[in-house]
Formats: sequence, structure tokens, C-alpha cells
Amino acid sequence: MEGDQSPGGSAVSQDTYLLIGGAPPLQQGRPRSVPRGCRPWRLWHRTSLCLAGPRKASWRRRVVVLAVLIAVLLLLLYSLGESSHRTIMSFVVCSSMVRGRPPEAAFRCNGPVNTTSQLPHPHAPPRPTQSRLREDPKVLLFTETQYSRTGQAIIHILVANRIKYKMEVLGKSLPGLTNLSKGKYGVVVFENFERYLQIDPWNRELLDKYLRDYGVGLVGFMPAREETQVGAKLRGFPLYVHSNLGLENVSLNSDNPVLRLTRAGGTLQEELPGTDWTVFTPADTTYTPLEWAAPSLPHFSEERLILSILDKGDYDGISRVLFGGNLDFWLHRLLFLDAVSYLSLGRISLSLERYILVDIDDIFVAKKGVRMTTDDVKALLDSQWRLRELVPEWRFNLGFSGKYYQNGYPEENAGDRMLLEHVDEFWWFGHMWGHTQPHTLTQEKLEHQMQLNKQFALAHNIPTDSGYSIAPHHSGVYPVHEPLYDAWKKVWNVRVTSSEEYPHLYPARLRRGFIHRNIMVLPRQTCGLFTHTVFIDKYPGGRQTLDSSIHGGELFLSIVYNPISIFMTHLSNYGNDRLALYTFESVIKFIKCWTNLSLRTVPPLQLGEKYFHLFPNERDPVWGYPCADRRHMQIWAKEKSCEQLPKFLVIGPQKTGTTALYTFLAMHPAIVANYPSADTFEEVQFFNGKNYYKGIDWYMNFFPVPANSSSRFLFEKSATYFEGEMVPQRVKALLPHSRLVVTVIPPSKRAYSWYHHMRAHNDPTALQYTFHQVITAGDGDPRALRSLRNKCLVPGMYAKHLERWLDHFPASQLILIDGEELRSDPVYVMNDLQRFLGIQPFYNYTEHLRYDKRKGFFCQVTEEDKTKCLGRGKGRIYPPMNESDAKLLKEYYQPYNVALEKLLTRLDYPVPKWLEEELQ
Ligand code: A3P
Repeated sequence: MEGDQSPGGSAVSQDTYLLIGGAPPLQQGRPRSVPRGCRPWRLWHRTSLCLAGPRKASWRRRVVVLAVLIAVLLLLLYSLGESSHRTIMSFVVCSSMVRGRPPEAAFRCNGPVNTTSQLPHPHAPPRPTQSRLREDPKVLLFTETQYSRTGQAIIHILVANRIKYKMEVLGKSLPGLTNLSKGKYGVVVFENFERYLQIDPWNRELLDKYLRDYGVGLVGFMPAREETQVGAKLRGFPLYVHSNLGLENVSLNSDNPVLRLTRAGGTLQEELPGTDWTVFTPADTTYTPLEWAAPSLPHFSEERLILSILDKGDYDGISRVLFGGNLDFWLHRLLFLDAVSYLSLGRISLSLERYILVDIDDIFVAKKGVRMTTDDVKALLDSQWRLRELVPEWRFNLGFSGKYYQNGYPEENAGDRMLLEHVDEFWWFGHMWGHTQPHTLTQEKLEHQMQLNKQFALAHNIPTDSGYSIAPHHSGVYPVHEPLYDAWKKVWNVRVTSSEEYPHLYPARLRRGFIHRNIMVLPRQTCGLFTHTVFIDKYPGGRQTLDSSIHGGELFLSIVYNPISIFMTHLSNYGNDRLALYTFESVIKFIKCWTNLSLRTVPPLQLGEKYFHLFPNERDPVWGYPCADRRHMQIWAKEKSCEQLPKFLVIGPQKTGTTALYTFLAMHPAIVANYPSADTFEEVQFFNGKNYYKGIDWYMNFFPVPANSSSRFLFEKSATYFEGEMVPQRVKALLPHSRLVVTVIPPSKRAYSWYHHMRAHNDPTALQYTFHQVITAGDGDPRALRSLRNKCLVPGMYAKHLERWLDHFPASQLILIDGEELRSDPVYVMNDLQRFLGIQPFYNYTEHLRYDKRKGFFCQVTEEDKTKCLGRGKGRIYPPMNESDAKLLKEYYQPYNVALEKLLTRLDYPVPKWLEEELQ
């Protein structure tokens, strides 16, 4: 298992099965030059070690010797003058550039290796015999409690692989398994298989019948238990278990049809974590071993024990995969995905294609001493050739900032030049000219920076047409700094970028992509190499940490779980110990050994297109609240502030008195409404339509930046938010703390008012058809009429929409206003609302609202005897609704009104009088 690192010894690549063929390496004849008598360790950063003699010499002695030498050198410099100074400096520099031997990616696969770049077909997946399941079946996961460990580990895998699931804490009853006779679940998983055995007979029969009838399989994990079982029979099955074992040396049964993503890579010569593993002994041919292990106690029998097993379903018609332990062991995570695929008859299956792109962020930016020498560049090219044997067409993707070109020691500057001599061997992308963070710059300055870099590229024959770029520290990509996107487009014609920050750095499994202004933002994965990870023995947590990330840990799983992985590395990871070469060669070899994945790489633009083809529902961004994330705040322009976002929203629906409410609220001295929109009258309409794609800068520009904003309440009213499908999710993401104000009136009255509103706005369809024709329009009617019908009737299904909002917001953040009461007693309503919003100072509306007889509504008091009422469009005069239409609508809305009453009672909200009357 262990990679062979021999700092001063011979390379082990020859006997590594995975180092295969390839073009002749540019660099032959290692080891590199090392002063005689010195130990070939890291002389570069341990000069004193070399100078002071044997390694065991005391540090104090070394320091003294080094100090004396430096003093002598300085004295010499001083006495020799300027020209000799240069000679001596270059001598010092050249000596200091002697570096130790970097570790080699010598992972050894002791089984056959997956050398094919074609998509493998390890075992033909079983075909679904019937299509009785819904199209995108979920995983049904039964857990012991909401937070139990294995359950959480299972969810982690499902989420990371974008597999839909439903978690159910096992109770007295089962969740509904079908919907309109279609099966909802493609696989059932028991975090604790013993709980499956203990289900009461009625529910067990129900579940087993579902599994048989719908051709669905079951995955179960054997829990750790206090008492040891020796040869205990599993209740109802010809299967025996032995628990509480320590195990080692795991191998897989390559003939087991469950293996798909996972391949039998030989024997893992390591001990499994823990001593509470369970093994199986079958007594029926329905069972086939999936995984074997040896007992780690020497006195135990030598034979291979079965650690996970496939039940083909010959015994009771149900296929199962059972694991003798949990998911702490990395191989089980792969086997779990294979079990889900196999048992769902391939319906819940991941593609076996994986794309990897390794960016070298800013190939010329690093301190002297950690940059690349010519040897390092040769090593990079060698590595690229070797990787091509495993990943066709492999190329590193180099970002450049011309400002730092040739900014190192002479040998490093030669390395920079050599990179450009081999310009065609790599992919290139323009970075900033300097390493400035874009969110601190105006568009003009950004463009200038990029132009400088472009000129540098043109002068050095570096390609400028990759369409890709990235920003230092993700700055300006997310949260979006619009000037960066503008400058990118203008100077480099950027079409694709990548970031780790959307929606947040952690948890990594939730990172997603989005498209903003036609620039694709791809999620980037973390490989554990940063600018300061230069030497393997200084790797945070030690070399072992890096190796375990490669050998089944985080890095390995990132590639397994993500169809497309983009990793960011830095120039410093390619000089000295060349940790990036070690890391990627190792992990790719490990993948080739233990998986059937086909690895590929393509340039970023193609990668972006592939990504959004695979995940089209990620195209739309979901703008998040920048102030919830310290990292986001650090890369958000200084003048931006969350105080410029509204504290509450009036979300509608239309025609329920929302304009009156908006006007009354805006009268309050502590409440500030949005600036009116030229396009949509007073409403911003951000969360529900095309405006959302304009980004949050556009939205925030509708609000003033108040001097002392925390004492002022910004708000906006957009009455179509209420019924918008995506709106609750979007509002929750950007304004998680906002209060929501909803107004409701009898839904039939609302529909009728809306119809007249449309006629008043000369909507041709509303003018063409009567109200009766609109509300009774059927599927055979013209599309415009059906659309008008929906817009007229759908907002009045209050309970349905409220439930959607309550999926995202707690009831305590939402207030429901009776629009009828707002009309008849606005003072009472406004006082109540002030209390709910917690607004200070209290504004006495009694003095500011007065009933206007002519208007027939309450209006704003402007002077002692004068009022200002809402315009003609509010409180329109139209004939009353005819009785038959009223009756029709009352029946139509009956179930929705019943649901509303139930919902309000459940939430302990007051039930409006009109609703009580409607339901009588
Ligand atoms: P009608 O014009 O059909 O009477 P919205 O502002 O959400 O579009 O709602 C308009 C409705 O608000 C009007 O519908 C009117 O009945 C109602 N309304 C409530 N209080 C009002 C007020 N003080 N002045 C004018 N209209 C008011």
C-alpha cells in the first residue's frame, strides 16, 4: 500500500506496475547534483545540516558554524566591491538551489490494473424487468435516530453523489412506498440491519412485498454490539454471523456482479479501523461473497472471512447486500454505491466517467526559493507524459501573471524561460497581471490589469483563447463583483471560471456550479495543496495525512464522487518536493487500481459545457446571504453591506391590498421602501423573474445605504413573489432572517379584482373573454386563455403556496394579514404589524390614516383637512360578480380554503372572518 519514498536511495518506479511505457522522460540520470559529503536531504532548506557535517550534529553547533560562515562571506563581499559581490551572490544562490530528491508516486497495485481509457463494462447490470417505479426513484434510508452515525455517513455519500433520498427514523409505521401505483424508492437501506429483522410482522410483510413486487433490493449494515456473537443465526435467514472482530488484508471477489465502480485491486495490506466488524457464514447458495478479510488476531483461523455479502434473492425473492460493519472503511463507501446501483437494477447509478483538470494557479507567482527550476520543469513534463498513459491527453492547465515572470533566483528564472519554451505542451489561461484581488478594483483598473497580462502573453506566444480564467482567492467570482465579469468578457472573452466558494467552501460536498451573464462558474474541489505546502515532511499532519487522502481518503473520494473535478495547485507545489506531481500521480494510480473509472481531461471550456449538460438544473444561480460567511465578507467589495438588503418583504398576492399596505408602511419614519423600478412601477420583482439573473448588486441598488441603517427597516413589496415556485428558496438563501408579510382576501374576490385589473391594463385576452370564460377555460381552449385562467386562479390557492414558504421559513418569520381588515380597519392592522416587525419608534397610525368618503377607503392624512388616497387603479369600480360565478368559485376554492383553515389553526394564527364565512 505505502508509496515508496527513498530520499537518497534508488527510485522504485521500475517495479511499480502502474508506471507504464510512455514517451521518454526529458530528465534522465537522477539523482540531481548534490555537494559531495552532504546528505542528499533537503539541502535547500537545511543548508546548515550540510555545512555542519553529519546529521546528528547538534543544532547549536550548526547554527554557530553557519553564523561564522555568513560573517566571513559578508566580510568578503564588503572588501571585494560591487562586481565581486554579484559573483559571490550568484554562487550563494546556486549553492542554495541544490535541492533534495522529491518523493515519487510509487503506489504499488498488487492486482491487475485498469489501464483502459474506454468505459468499462465490468458486469452487465441487471435490467429492470418492469417500469413500475417512478422515473427518478429515491433511496429510502431507515435510521435509528436523526443523527445516528452510520445514517449520517450514508447521507453524506448520497448528497455528495447527488442521489435523492428520503430519511426515515424507524418507528411504528412505514412511510408511503407508492404514489399512484408507482414505486417511489429504488433501494431501501437499513443503517442497522437488525432493526429490519425486528420490524413487526405486518410492516415487514408490507415492506418485503414492496421489495418483491417492484424489484427493489435492500442494503443493510451490521451494527457494532456489546456482546460477541459466535456463529449466531440471523433470524429467518440461512446466514450465520460472528461479531466483534478485528480484521485486515481485505480483498474483493472480482466475480461478484455487484462490483461496478469498484474493482478488485488485489489485497489491501492494512488493518481495518476498529475491532467490531461482523463476518458472515452462509448456508445457502443464494449468498455470494463480495469482500473478504483476514482476522487480525494471529491465533484466529487463517481462512478468509466474508465481510460483505450479496444475497441474490434466490431464497425469498429479495436481493440484499449486507455489510459486516460501517462506512468508516473507504472501500465500503465505493461498495455501497455499487450496491445501490446493483439493487436498483441500475436506476440509481453513477456514470463511470470522471473528468479531472489540474490548474496551476499563477505559474510565475511564488517567493524565491519555492519556484520551479529547469529540473522541476522537466519533471513536470515527465509527469505529464506518464499521466497520459492513465488519462489520455493529460495536460496541466497553467495560469499566468506576467508581472512576476523571472522573479526568482537565476536557476528559477531559467525554469520560467523553459516553461515558455514548452508553451505548446500545456494549456494556458490568463490570470491578473499582478496577484490583486478583483473585488478591490474598479472595472477600469481590472481591464488595465488584464490588458497588461494579455500584452505579456502575446509577447511570449502564450495562447490567449482558452476562454477560462480564475480570480485570486476566488475574489469577485462569488459573491459576484460585476466589474470582474465585465472585464473578463471584454479583455479575455472569458466563458468559464471555477471557484470553491459557491455556495460555501464547506461542506465541500455541497459545492455547485452556476452561470452568470453567460460565464460558467464551475465548482472546484480541494486537493490539500496550498502555496505553503512545499515539503512533504512539513505537510500539515505529516506525510501520512497526505497519503491517506490519496489512498481512499478525501482526495480520492472527491474524484470518485464528482463526475468533474477541477483542482487548484500552485507554483510552489511543483518546485522542491514537487508535491503536486506526487499527489496527482499517486491518486490517479490508486483510482486505476481500485476503481473501474475511466479518467479523462478536456480543456476548461469543454469541461464547462459538459458540466452543465450533466447538471442542467445548476445553471440558475441561488444568491446567498454574503454576511453569513466570513470568507465571503473578505472577498466582497468594501462599500457593500448587508444593511442594504431589506429586513422584510411584502410578498402578495396581487389584489389583496398590497399597495395600500406598502403605502402605509412607507409613511412610518423608521421604515424605508425600495426605490421605484422604472420597468415594473413601484415593484422590484427580483426573486421571481428574469431580474434575478441580474445579480444582487442590481437588487441592492434599489435600496439606500442608510447612515445608521440598523435603526431603519428597509423593505420591498412585490406581489407576485407569493406564488412563484422558486421564490421561497431564493428569498431564504439571500434574506434568511427577513420577515414575510402575506395578505389574503376571499380568493374568488381576488380573482375577480385581478380580472378587472387586467382589463384596465388592456390585456387583449382579458378584453376578449368574459370572467366566466376565463375561470371555466378548459384544456382545449387557446393557450393565452388558459394562461390567463391560471394567473387568475392559482394565487388564490393560499394554503398550497404558504406550505411552500413554510418549507423554507419558520412560521415565526411570517405574518398573515387579513386584507379585508386592512381595508376596514387599517390602524389596527398597522399597529399589529409594527409589533410583529419589532419596529421602533411606534408610529401612531390613528393620526395619519382617515376614511375618505369619496374614495370609499382609508387614505393618508396630509394636512388637517386633506387626505391623499391611492390612485384610480386601486379601489376600482366594476359591476359585482354574478352569482353563478361566485358559486362556482366558492366550490372551486373549497378544498384550498379548508386546507388554509387547518394550516392557520395548526400554526396558531388567527382565522380571518371571511374564511370562517366561506367555510360555513
Ligand atoms: P380593487 O381595485 O379591486 O377594489 P393590490 O394593491 O394588492 O393590487 O390590491 C388592490 C386592492 O386593494 C383594491 O382592489 C382594493 O379593494 C384594496 N384596498 C385595500 N385598502 C385600500 C385602500 N386604502 N385604498 C385603495 N384600495 C384598497
